[in-house]
This record gives sequence, C-alpha cells and structure tokens, in this order.
Amino acid sequence: MDNVSRRAFLKVPAAAATIAAPAILQSQSPGSELRVAFVGVGNRGSYLLRHMLRVPGVKVVAVCDILEDRAKAAADQVSKAGGSAQTYTDYRKMLDSRKDIDAVVAATPDWTHKDVYISILEVGKDLYGEKPLALNVADGKMIVNAAKSARGLFQVGFQLRHDPARNAAENFIHSGGIGEVLMCHGMRHGGDLPRNIPWYFDKEKSGDIVVDQGIHILDLFTWAIGSHPERVMGSGGTDLFVNVPAGRTVMDNYNLIFEYPGGVRVNFSHHYFDPPGFTGIKERVFGSKGAIDLITGKWQPRESREAIQLDIPNQGKDSTYMAMEAFADSVRNRKKPINNIDSAYVSMIVPLMGTKAIYEKRIVTWNEMIA
Ligand SMILES: NC(=O)c1ccc[n+]([C@@H]2O[C@H](COP(=O)([O-])OP(=O)(O)OC[C@H]3O[C@@H](n4cnc5c(N)ncnc54)[C@H](O)[C@@H]3O)[C@@H](O)[C@H]2O)c1
Repeated sequence: MDNVSRRAFLKVPAAAATIAAPAILQSQSPGSELRVAFVGVGNRGSYLLRHMLRVPGVKVVAVCDILEDRAKAAADQVSKAGGSAQTYTDYRKMLDSRKDIDAVVAATPDWTHKDVYISILEVGKDLYGEKPLALNVADGKMIVNAAKSARGLFQVGFQLRHDPARNAAENFIHSGGIGEVLMCHGMRHGGDLPRNIPWYFDKEKSGDIVVDQGIHILDLFTWAIGSHPERVMGSGGTDLFVNVPAGRTVMDNYNLIFEYPGGVRVNFSHHYFDPPGFTGIKERVFGSKGAIDLITGKWQPRESREAIQLDIPNQGKDSTYMAMEAFADSVRNRKKPINNIDSAYVSMIVPLMGTKAIYEKRIVTWNEMIA
C-alpha cells in the first residue's frame, strides 16, 4: 500500500505520517554499541532478552518489572551472558534517570501497552513493543500519533515477519511469484493457553484470542495481500474450556472469513480443541500461478506437480533472534522496520474487527472500525 492510501485509511494527518526527520540525524555510527533497556520481563520479555543478549554490539544495561524478583532474574540472565544491568520496578523512573539508554524493548501485558509505549516514545527512545498495539482503535490511534511525532523508531513484536522461511515467502509473493493473490488459508489449532498467565484468560486484559493470539497469522496474510480487509464475518465461542480456568472470558474456538479489496479472501480457523499429537498450524497463500506455504517457504506452481523450495537466507535461525537483530540494525541505521507502526496499526484493527463480528454476530466493515 502506498503512503497516500495508507494515510487515507489510517486517518493520520499527512504531516505526522512522514518519518520524523530528527530520527535520521540521530543515526548511530555503524560500529557503536547499543545500550538497551527492557520493560516487562515475564514470559515473553525474558525470551526476547535471551535473544537480544546474543545480538552482536548490544549491551543490555537496565531491566524493569513491577515484580522485583522478575527484574532480578532478568539481571541474572544479563550477568550470565557476561554483562551487567541495573534493576528497576518503575519504568518511568528508569526512563527519567537513564539518559544513556538508546532503545527499549517492552513486553508488558496487552492492556498496559498504551501507557508504556507512549511514555517511551515521548522520551525519544527507539522502541520494540510487543503486539497488539492496543486493545481498541482509540488507544491505537493515540499510539500512532505518539509514534509519528517521536524521535525514535518503533518496531512492533510481529517476529514472524522476520522468520527466515516466512520472510522469503512474503518477498516471493510481493515480487509476483505466485501471481495475483487470490486467497489465504490459515489454521492455528492447538491446546489451550498457558494456565500460568492468568490475564490471557480475561478478554478485558488480552482483547480475547483473536487479538492476542490469532493476530500473528492474520498479520502475515495482511502483509501478503498488501491492503486491509473491507469486511469480515465470523463465529466463535467457548465450548470446551467453559469457565476453565475459573472466570475465563476468552473464547476457545472461532472461524473468520475476511474480504479484502478485489475479492481476495482470508479464511482463518483457530481453536484449542486439539488433543496431544493432533496439533496443526497452516499458513498458506493461493495465487493465480500457484500456492505457497509460508511456514516452509515451499511453493507449488499450478502447472507442475513438483514443489519448489525457495532459497531461504538465514534458514533455521529463530524468528525472535532475527527480530531482535533487525531491531538493532534499524536503530543503528535508522531503517524503518518491516513490522512498523503503520503495519501494526492495520494488524491491530484486523483482529479487533474479527472479534466484533463474532461477538455481535454480524458483518463488520473496516470503515466502521476507523470511523
Ligand atoms: N510475539 C509473541 O509471539 C508473543 C508471545 C507471548 C507474549 N507476547 C506479548 O508479550 C507481552 C507480555 O506477555 P507475557 O506472556 O510475557 O506476559 P507475562 O505476564 O508473563 O509478562 C508480563 C510482565 O510485565 C510485567 N509488567 C506489568 N506491568 C508492568 C509495568 N507497568 N512496568 C514493568 N513491568 C510490568 C509483569 O510483572 C510481567 O512480569 C504481551 O503484550 C503479549 O501479547 C508476544
């Protein structure tokens, strides 16, 4: 999507939609060491930290979590990797006192993103913030506005865009390899959410499972198609894990059909009904010349029975490592990330509209979401 059409649907002021000039002036010299801080070092944050500690030229100098023992555990992780990080339990204090920090990685729960992200962007730090951007469009717009006027850049936690096979497959699609994109078919079938993270089961805090979990595959499909959906229909509910764990308000299954411009359809099925050994994830894009499997980077031309394996640079490398490495590269070289504020805003609205369609049992349009 070009900048004009992107601006039109984002409804972001034109002046604010350009890349902030001071960011370019801020450019790091290529060999210089990046000083990175972490905010939120629970399940995801500690995993991001593990990978960031392996990225050359990065020094993790501060770690923050409202739970002191988690901040200490993260500092131990840094020490074991040969570094030293100061611990904080208040990210605002950390931002106030540590002017030496170049960039921040934030992995706090979904419902906290607006406050955390805006605070970090306002002090001019580069930010890697986990998905989803926010749990409603109004908060998402506030974050977009903060990002557009910020000195720092913003990479959003869609690490699958950096997964070597998926990245190669998307590049192939964008180069016209499978012809015109006609349809995407996705499945995320597995067991239930991890019980040790209670907020995952509260839809007020996680946005429910389309927004918190389905978002990754939907983001890949939106990226493949290159525009936002016009409308969506769907159905879902809680049928197996009823009140399990107690107080659960999130679904355990749903199906969605999105229509994108030109009649391109996305068909996505997501459930937690799989018994052990019966699990399945599928991410397939169908085009006029053939179809491609994003997970393996194998493409099947229509006129042949032989599948073709794409060349995959960095094959086998972990997508989260690749995302951390890409973030460091973007910070150093002032590059716009491939999982940037514009794509993340669209990829926040896509699952929000799907959820609304399921809850309200009706077709929901893009235009009503952004009105
Ligand atoms: N990209 C992915 O594949 C992926 C996978 C899992 C989670 N996530 C995302 O990562 C984020 C965190 O999820 P999680 O599974 O790690 O949850 P979690 O509950 O395990 O960790 C969140 C941590 O943030 C801390 N925290 C909460 N408020 C804070 C604040 N104001 N300041 C500092 N720390 C604060 C909590 O104490 C906790 O340690 C969520 O946005 C989630 O959607 C992304």
